[in-house]
Amino acid sequence: MYTFEHDHLLQADALSVEDIDCILSLAKIYANYNRHKTQCAETLAGKTLINAFFENSTRTFTSFDLAGKRLGANTINMAVETSSIRKGETLIDTAETLNAMLPHILVIRHGDSGAVKLLSRKVNCSVINAGDGEHEHPTQALLDALTIKMCMGKFSGLTLAICGDILHSRVARSNIHILKKLGVNVRVVAPRSLIPEGIETLGAEVFEDMKEGIKGCDIIMVLRLQLERMQGAFVPNEREYNRFFGLTPEKLAMAKKGAFVMHPGPINRGVEIDSTVADDLCVTVIRQQVELGVAVRMACLDLLAHKRPSICL
Ligand code: NCD
Repeated sequence: MYTFEHDHLLQADALSVEDIDCILSLAKIYANYNRHKTQCAETLAGKTLINAFFENSTRTFTSFDLAGKRLGANTINMAVETSSIRKGETLIDTAETLNAMLPHILVIRHGDSGAVKLLSRKVNCSVINAGDGEHEHPTQALLDALTIKMCMGKFSGLTLAICGDILHSRVARSNIHILKKLGVNVRVVAPRSLIPEGIETLGAEVFEDMKEGIKGCDIIMVLRLQLERMQGAFVPNEREYNRFFGLTPEKLAMAKKGAFVMHPGPINRGVEIDSTVADDLCVTVIRQQVELGVAVRMACLDLLAHKRPSICL
C-alpha cells in the first residue's frame, strides 16, 4: 500500500507519480472545502508553522499563511527585513534559532539555489521549499498541475509550452519535472540566451520561435523576465522582447482552439504578456492557479505533518 514517506518537500524532482497523485487528490478535497466552508479545520491544531521568506513574495507567502491558518495551525511569519539576518547572522544560525523554538514545519524561500536543502539538514522539523534561487519551486508546479487537471481533466497527451525566461526560472524547472512524469509533452520557448544548457535532458523540446513553439499547444505557461537574477543584458530591451516573445492574441491564435494561458505571477503587462490576453478570463486561468495554490499547500502541510492525509473537516 502507498504511503507518503517524505520528511521534507524540497524538490519536484524527488516526487514519484504516486506522491503527486496523492498530493493532488488531497488538494482537490481542500479546494472544495475552501469554497464551501468558512470555518477552520482542526487538522493542524497544535502544530506550529514558521514562514521565513528571504526573498519577496505576495502569492506564495500569503498562500502558505492562509493554508496553515485554514488547517488550524499556529502560523508565524518571520519578518526577514527586521530580523538578525540584517545584523550579520548566517542562514544556518538563523535556522538553528528557529529550530530551537520547536516548530513542526518551516516554509522557506531563499535567493540561493540549494539553500533550503542545506537548511533542512540542520533542523528537526519538516521543511518546505517555497522557491530557492533558480532551482525549484515544487508547490508552484503542483498547483499548476492541479489547475491543468481541473481545467482539462487529464494530463496524458497534452502539449504545454513554457514561454519566457526559462534560464532563471525555478517554476519552469519544477514544472518540467512534474509534468513530464504525468505524461505531458513539455516545450520551452525563449530566445537562445534564456534557455539553460542541457534542458533537453529533462525531456523538454526547445523552440526559439514563439509562434512555432505555441503551434498546436493545449496550454501556454508564460513566465516573467527574472531581472533580479540577471547580471548583464540577456535581451536587447523589454520592447524588443515583447515583440518576439510577448504573448499577444495573434501569437495565441497559433495554439489549439480552446487553449488556455497560465502564469505563476507576478505578471509584467506589456512585456511577457499583453493585457488583452491577461485580462481575458475565457483564456487565462491565473486566478484559478492562485485559488488552487492554497489547497495544494494545505495538502502538502497535512501530508508532511501526518505522513498520510488526516482530514478532519
Ligand atoms: C514565481 C517565483 O517566485 O518563482 N512566483 C510565484 O511564486 N508565484 C515566479 C516569479 O517570480 O516570476
